[in-house]
Amino acid sequence: MIEIAPSILSADFTRLGEQISAVEQAGASYIHVDVMDGHFVPNLTVGPFIVEWVRKTTTLPIDAHLMIENPDNFIAAFAKAGANLISVHPEATYHLNRTLALIRQAGCRAGVVLNPATPLALIEEVIRDVDYVLVMSVNPGFGGQKFIESTPDKLRRLRELIAIKGSKARIEIDGGIGPENAAEVVAAGADILVAGSSVFGYPDPGGALRRLIMAAETASNQGSMLRV
Ligand code: DX5
Ligand code: ZN
Repeated sequence: MIEIAPSILSADFTRLGEQISAVEQAGASYIHVDVMDGHFVPNLTVGPFIVEWVRKTTTLPIDAHLMIENPDNFIAAFAKAGANLISVHPEATYHLNRTLALIRQAGCRAGVVLNPATPLALIEEVIRDVDYVLVMSVNPGFGGQKFIESTPDKLRRLRELIAIKGSKARIEIDGGIGPENAAEVVAAGADILVAGSSVFGYPDPGGALRRLIMAAETASNQGSMLRV
């Protein structure tokens, strides 16, 4: 099943609760929260305090994408604030295996994130210890960037690696996703699509989300027809 994780990075923060309810009612599966520290990425966003407020507005799982150095220092705080999934970048921590264990000990699903230039080889040794791999299809730091066209090829290679290693990891994709490329990334192996500006960049985020779901499902339907 294809799942969508709208990213509140592009939401109207003066009406955050209302916007989250709109996408929840329209069929969102997660709420994606982009956490940036101004060091690992050249932007600053939100911390556990905002996650706590998001938690009060939705029953959907909160997917915290940590673009921060030394994520170990903040895992417990995000879990306590209500995050259900926490992902980290391997370049931002010295001991990735320990960081992933800390996420699980905090009661959350653990994810590892691959930047566009980060090779799959960097996660080979942990692929069986993660619940999901988040593949960046833009360089992290900002919403509204252009989708990097080589990403579907990386998704296909990641799908193979997951199969070879006997991992149960799901694949999430993040950056520049919209109705125009949703079917392509799903066909290449993505299970969860993060979408910021293609959902919250519209006056009716619920309608925009429904259009995205329909576009993504085109690929799933084509895939099942091909398998028959
Ligand atoms: C970028 C963030 C993304 C961002 C995606 O660093 O990780 O989650 O919100 O925004 P769009 O969908 O506009 O590319
Ligand atoms: Zn993100």
